[in-house]
Amino acid sequence: MGRTAGSAFTPLTIGPLTLRNRFVKSGANEGRSRGGLPTEALVEHHRAVAAGGVALTTVAYCAVAGDGRTFADQICLRPDAVRPLRALTDAVHREGAAVAAQITHGGAFSFLKPASGLRPGSASAGFNPTGALHGMPLKRALSPAELETIADIFAAAARIAEEAGFDAVEIHMGHGYLLSQFLSPGENRRDDAFGGDMEGRARFPRMVLRRVLDAVGARMAVMCKIGVFEGYRGGNEGDDAARLASLLEADGAHMLVLSGGMNVQAPWWIFGSKMPIAEMKAAEPGFVGRRALDMLSLMQPRALAFREMYFRDHSRKVRAAVRMPLGYLGGVKSLASVDAALSEDGFDAVVLGRALLHDPALVERFRTGTAEASGCDSCNRCVATMHGPSGTHCVLHAPPDAAPNQRIAG
Ligand SMILES: Cc1cc2nc3c(=O)[nH]c(=O)nc-3n(C[C@H](O)[C@H](O)[C@H](O)COP(=O)(O)O)c2cc1C
Repeated sequence: MGRTAGSAFTPLTIGPLTLRNRFVKSGANEGRSRGGLPTEALVEHHRAVAAGGVALTTVAYCAVAGDGRTFADQICLRPDAVRPLRALTDAVHREGAAVAAQITHGGAFSFLKPASGLRPGSASAGFNPTGALHGMPLKRALSPAELETIADIFAAAARIAEEAGFDAVEIHMGHGYLLSQFLSPGENRRDDAFGGDMEGRARFPRMVLRRVLDAVGARMAVMCKIGVFEGYRGGNEGDDAARLASLLEADGAHMLVLSGGMNVQAPWWIFGSKMPIAEMKAAEPGFVGRRALDMLSLMQPRALAFREMYFRDHSRKVRAAVRMPLGYLGGVKSLASVDAALSEDGFDAVVLGRALLHDPALVERFRTGTAEASGCDSCNRCVATMHGPSGTHCVLHAPPDAAPNQRIAG
């Protein structure tokens, strides 16, 4: 074994699941699903990461329902997805790793008109910048009865994930999707029990968590991905995240993955570095979408330079507030960062996105001492490949074969 962070290759138990080490692949939209179903390319993507040594790989952005999708091809946890998803979970298990489904509802962050014909639902009514690009400039506030229904839909989706062989679900409570539209003070202006201070804003996300725990928590790990630094004026930061984490710990969540940024107000903070606007514009077919990217380019801070562990200070506040397992995410690119997160800061796992897109075998290279750092240069141009024929990939390598990305798995 090479020079590794002390505890990095020791097991970690989260709820009913024991992981073989402390490395988790972050949910990063793979661009490898068609019509709501996973492709053969998605299976291979996660198999490779599992073979490369992670303990847990996360299938990104699985919608809990048709109306919860952001885009049409997104994986949807409906009954006909069980068989093709089973091909994926079997392939990961054969490599000795575990696999999580990230379960999400886009809320107002959707490019699709709701089947109901109503405006997309969110915490509060108002102008909806994402919808405006797709002919839906306004969003509406979901009623308490609708929130009950959506919480049940999350639980039903978790049951489907269990049927498909997943070991864990990660409830997406960050980045600007429905649950963070409730958590984020700039998005939630409700004056009922689901708004106000963090207790109020967290009421709906916690309802979702408890329903999912009731449905599958005895047999699957139930994690939540939360924002520790939303990156816009008035948004949540470390102290708010610490309060939220205490509430989620009290509810029984098995692990939190600590992230940040907001897809509308501050997407660059998801990555801790600038968005590749020129490449994103080149990949964007619509005129309106390209103008929106021009706007984004004006909003983007000029001085944002990538540094490893860019969420460290905010995440440490969460560490200080809870005893539950926490996964540190955000710019883990080297063994030095792994060491800092696990040994110095006391996080329980490290969660990696771009470093594993660049090299799915990085964890094994860390273990054997053949690498000490990732070759990912944080250019973020992988983001612009997401909706291309080969799916999301690192532009420093040749694109993967596009044909398996047209064939449904299983
Ligand atoms: C191409 C790409 C797609 C992503 N899609 C998702 C997603 O679907 N869900 C999610 O929670 N995060 C998504 N992310 C964010 C990553 O999970 C992670 O939070 C971010 O890349 C920072 O971690 P890193 O520094 O290890 O890359 C995406 C990131 C990239 C690069």
